[in-house]
Amino acid sequence: MAHDAVEVIGAKRDRQELSDSQIDWVVEAYTRGDVADEQMSALLMAILLNGMSRREIGRWTSAMIASGERMDFSSLSRPTADKHSTGGVGDKITLPLAPLVAACGVAVPQLSGRGLGHTGGTLDKLESIPGWRATLSNEEMLAQLESVGAVVCAAGDGLAPADKKLYALRDVTGTVPAIPLIATSIMSKKIAEGTGALVLDVKVGTGAFMRTVDEAHELATTMVALGQDAGVATVALLTDMSTPLGLTAGNAVEVQESLEVLAGGGPADVVELTVALAREMLAAAGRGDVDPADKLSDGSAMDAWRAMISAQGGDVDASLPTSRETHVVPAPASGTLTRLDALAVGLAAWRLGAGRARKEDAVQAGAGVVWHARPGDEVTEGRPLFTLHTDEPERFERALESLEGGFDIGDGSAFTPTPLVIDRVG
Ligand code: URA
Repeated sequence: MAHDAVEVIGAKRDRQELSDSQIDWVVEAYTRGDVADEQMSALLMAILLNGMSRREIGRWTSAMIASGERMDFSSLSRPTADKHSTGGVGDKITLPLAPLVAACGVAVPQLSGRGLGHTGGTLDKLESIPGWRATLSNEEMLAQLESVGAVVCAAGDGLAPADKKLYALRDVTGTVPAIPLIATSIMSKKIAEGTGALVLDVKVGTGAFMRTVDEAHELATTMVALGQDAGVATVALLTDMSTPLGLTAGNAVEVQESLEVLAGGGPADVVELTVALAREMLAAAGRGDVDPADKLSDGSAMDAWRAMISAQGGDVDASLPTSRETHVVPAPASGTLTRLDALAVGLAAWRLGAGRARKEDAVQAGAGVVWHARPGDEVTEGRPLFTLHTDEPERFERALESLEGGFDIGDGSAFTPTPLVIDRVG
């Protein structure tokens, strides 16, 4: 049935539920170019302000999926499981996780993005490995999933094209932080991708989209319902993002830290989250009998990493790029580091050149922040607390400004660590 844009906008403005045919029409007509950007902007703002029912969210997701192709991994000899993180600082988990799950016998088709703003992008991190390429055809992806068991690559243009247009518009109209729009955006891509099982890592805290546990819970519940309704075994973990993950935020520095995890070491929080997500992915894919911790310690996850990176042209034995300049920030006092703020660290890494302000900007492979203590650790006045890395020393000043007020050193007697995994939905 044909509708017109003003009628659909008016309905949502007046807090009515949109009908299935209004949703199908407006998503399709916008993707085709028959609904103008200014009309879709008005509708998105009305959705942000007035919300959507579960039925509307489900239908909007189906309409976005129908705007493009659907991938099919049913010909593979093993089950598939994917992970999606809503984005955080120092979140390099995909790097050790994909080969780890592959080493446990479940294939991981991981379509990832580039970073925008203070949260890093998995593809930017992997592109710091000499020769590695992010773009694969669907056939190459399928072949690598069969031979290696893990692929991390850029989503092709054919997958949920409605989301590509809508996301770009949301980015410039202040309509990104709406739970129905985030849930439909993420889940349309994951369902179209064709994974059999999906584990969502919904981040909560200063460095995340969702600042409160209640908001994160609502987003997780909405996405889990969308996945399950589409026949994808979906669960979500709510995990802390008030503190950045590990000891590094940037590109090559995060690859280096991931290699330490794959070699059986690395920061305890990165190992804990990697193993927790791997257990969920394996259970959702019907392989809950395998313990991923064993595959980290026996070297098989590292073997899968080497195969995965080489298959995409990466030189696994080449040294990783380093920045031309470094600047050490000493601890201003002795005591316990009681707080390290994820947003402050993420902004510093971004200002050093690890992230981009506009989609078309390039990132620096060697840029980023390394911190030498995590909350709960003792620090000594004058000893290094942060090392900042960039190719352009004029960036240090703004990065230092973002770290101001981003940490506390004090008496550790009242310090209680925040749990990393806050809740589970599914
Ligand atoms: N990631 C997405 O893919 N979409 C959103 O809306 C937010 C985060």
